[in-house]
Parts: sequence; C-alpha cells; structure tokens
Amino acid sequence: MITPRVFSSSTRQCLRKACQQPRWTPASYQIRGYATPVDEKVALFKGKKGSDGKYTVSLIEGDGIGPEISQSVKDIYTAANVPIKWEPIDVTPHLKDGRTVIPDESIASIEKNYIALKGPLATPVGKGHVSLNLTLRRTFNLFANVRPCKSIAGYKTPYDNVNTVLIRENTEGEYSGIEHVVVDGVVQSIKLITREASERVLRYAFQYAQDIGKNKVRVVHKATIMKMSDGLFLSTARDVAKDFPNIEFDAELLDNACLKITTDPAPYADKVLVMPNLYGDILSDMCAGLIGGLGLTPSGNIGDECSIFEAVHGSAPDIAGKGLANPTALLLSSIMMLRHMGLNTEAERVEKAIFKTLADGKALTGDLGGKAKTHEYAQAIIDNLR
Ligand SMILES: NC(=O)c1ccc[n+]([C@@H]2O[C@H](COP(=O)([O-])OP(=O)(O)OC[C@H]3O[C@@H](n4cnc5c(N)ncnc54)[C@H](O)[C@@H]3O)[C@@H](O)[C@H]2O)c1
Repeated sequence: MITPRVFSSSTRQCLRKACQQPRWTPASYQIRGYATPVDEKVALFKGKKGSDGKYTVSLIEGDGIGPEISQSVKDIYTAANVPIKWEPIDVTPHLKDGRTVIPDESIASIEKNYIALKGPLATPVGKGHVSLNLTLRRTFNLFANVRPCKSIAGYKTPYDNVNTVLIRENTEGEYSGIEHVVVDGVVQSIKLITREASERVLRYAFQYAQDIGKNKVRVVHKATIMKMSDGLFLSTARDVAKDFPNIEFDAELLDNACLKITTDPAPYADKVLVMPNLYGDILSDMCAGLIGGLGLTPSGNIGDECSIFEAVHGSAPDIAGKGLANPTALLLSSIMMLRHMGLNTEAERVEKAIFKTLADGKALTGDLGGKAKTHEYAQAIIDNLR
C-alpha cells in the first residue's frame, strides 16, 4: 500500500482534490471545475513598483560562475536603466526534519517580490540533499518550465532557422518521485498525471502562445502507449483548446516530433509545444543542442504566485573565478523575466544589444570560440545599447 507521504506536497494536494471529485463527470464540466476562471490570466505577475519607481527582484547569484555572470546582468541593467532593484538572497540548503529546505528569509523574499532570477546552483553530493533546483520548484509550486530556443546569428550551427518554444509540465508525470521496490530485483516508478496540473500548464501554454504571437499549440505525447496518463493530458488539452478558438491546436507523438525537429526545425517556428515532464526535459535539451548548447538558452519556471527565471547550465566549477564564463543564458533568462513583468521595451532594447554583440563576433567568450573575458563581453553589450 502506498501512503500519501511518498508524494510531493503539490501531488498530495492534487490527489486530495481528485479524491473529493465525483467518479465521473463530463469533460466540459470537469474543466470548469478548475480554480482559475477561463478568461483569467494564469500566473499573472503581481509585483508592484516601489516608491522609487523600481521593481524589487530576488537574486540568487548561485555557485561557481554564478556571481560572475550575475555581475554582467547587473552591470548591463544599470547601464540600460532597467527599473529593477536587486535583493540578493542565499538559498544554501539545510536539512530540517530529514527534508532539504531553503532559508525562511529567502522564501519570504521571493514571496514578497513574486519574482527571482537565479544563477546555477551546485548540487551537494552525498550529503542527503535532494537537488536544490527541485526543492525550489516544489517550494514555490513552479508548474511550468518554459524553454525557448532561437538560432543565434554569429554562432554557426547546422541550422540557422531554429525558433522553438517548449513548455514542460514541471511538477508531476515521471518525476513525481514515487518509486518503490516490489520484491527484490523488481522496482516500480509511478507516472502520475492529474487533470488539474495538466489543465494549468496547458492553459498557460495557450495564453503564452497568444502573448508571444504564435497562433498554434501542439501537445507532444505518447498516448498511443500510455493511454490513461498521456491520454488524460491529451484529452484535457482538447478541452482547453475550445477556450482558445483563435489558436490552432494539434498533437504529435514524441518520437515523431524528435525526428521531425532534428530533420527540419522550420515547421516548428510558428508553434508552442507543450508536454508532460520527462518529454519536456529531454526535448528542451535537444532543441538547445540545435542552437549551440545550454550556454545560450534561457528558461523560466512559472508558478501561480512566484516565477523564477534561470540559466539551465551548471555552475561550471572548472572555469569559476577565471573570468571565462559566458553570461548569455542568464542574460536571456532575465529578458524572459522582464517580459513576464511587462517590461517589454526594456527587454527589447537589451535583447537587441545582446544579439548584435553575438552577431558582431568581436567580443565572444571562449565557449563560443572567442577570447573575451566575461566583463569584456558585458561591456560590448553595454556599448551596443541604444
Ligand atoms: N540549473 C542548475 O542550477 C544546474 C544545472 C546543471 C548542473 N548543475 C550543477 O552544476 C555543477 C557542475 O555541473 P556540470 O559540470 O555537470 O555541468 P556544467 O554546465 O556546470 O558544465 C559543463 C561544461 O560546460 C561549461 N559551461 C557551463 N556553463 C558555461 C558558461 N556559462 N560559460 C562557459 N562555459 C560553461 C563548463 O565549463 C563545463 O566544461 C554540479 O554541481 C551540478 O549539480 C546545476
């Protein structure tokens, strides 16, 4: 018998709600049972400017190269007069009652500001901690992971026309953490899919597609094999799609999507792809590979209350403190953050300067084949601000 304790808290909440629902209700009724009314924006940024005209953003500089790449973001934002004040926080974990937790003050900072930018965090090895990134996702119930990948002029890869946007369900699916030994030599992992979590991420995906001017949403799935779990995700998507008549909706099998994107990414440029947890984890790194790797790709973890934007690469201990780190991924994550906050003009301006600097190719960091130090690359971006 599986006790509720083996589930994460968000999963336990979903299970409790699911158990309270009647056994069967028509899909259209069930959809309306979601806490968010159809026309309400999912994960709307709730922050307000202070009396100084600035938003406060919690800043987790992170480990290894984290402080160096965070400094570049701070310098560029100061030069661009972005109306943001940084509140540095420390998320060094400690074990409390056998669970990995982050300091209460840091949780309070993110809850107060509704937004955070995060550098890479090193996962302590062999100290009984679970991944800090996972802890942050669980602490703030960050239900959607958004990963755009766009070819970068000036950095040659096999394709010049990649422009994908992937949205991954971030709280359940294959990563629900429900695993046990059945008998010696036989283990079982449970893939948990709930209608509530599926609807939340799907509704966010449709709204995100509208916001960024893509008029197609595609679910990536394996409902042919996982008929019940992926089947529920897919049928929920079909129901949610009815609320977005201006967005074209379709679905594609995961294996087919991998084959097609790597053969020709162009047909994927007009869509937002949305999918369960594991597929999103793998497919988003595959798309990152198409544009040159994790050093160039931003990401946002979206929650109803707070959202955390982060570089997806690690803390690069091999080059830490040497001024060799490339801050592009964190910078582009901060641009996603600005757009989430509604600071679109500022986002556009800084983003243009980043892409111009990369296209010029005169001040690139070592990972992109250049010789520039981190601060020289940042200075080139500042020089390109208009
Ligand atoms: N999102 C995160 O916070 C995150 C993600 C992955 C790994 N990690 C952690 O980071 C630590 C190191 O992990 P790893 O070595 O497997 O992966 P890594 O991403 O830190 O490094 C892999 C390689 O890429 C290079 N690299 C990474 N980011 C770079 C950048 N911005 N500029 C230039 N070069 C860069 C590194 O020098 C290294 O050669 C581990 O503790 C791991 O748990 C954290």
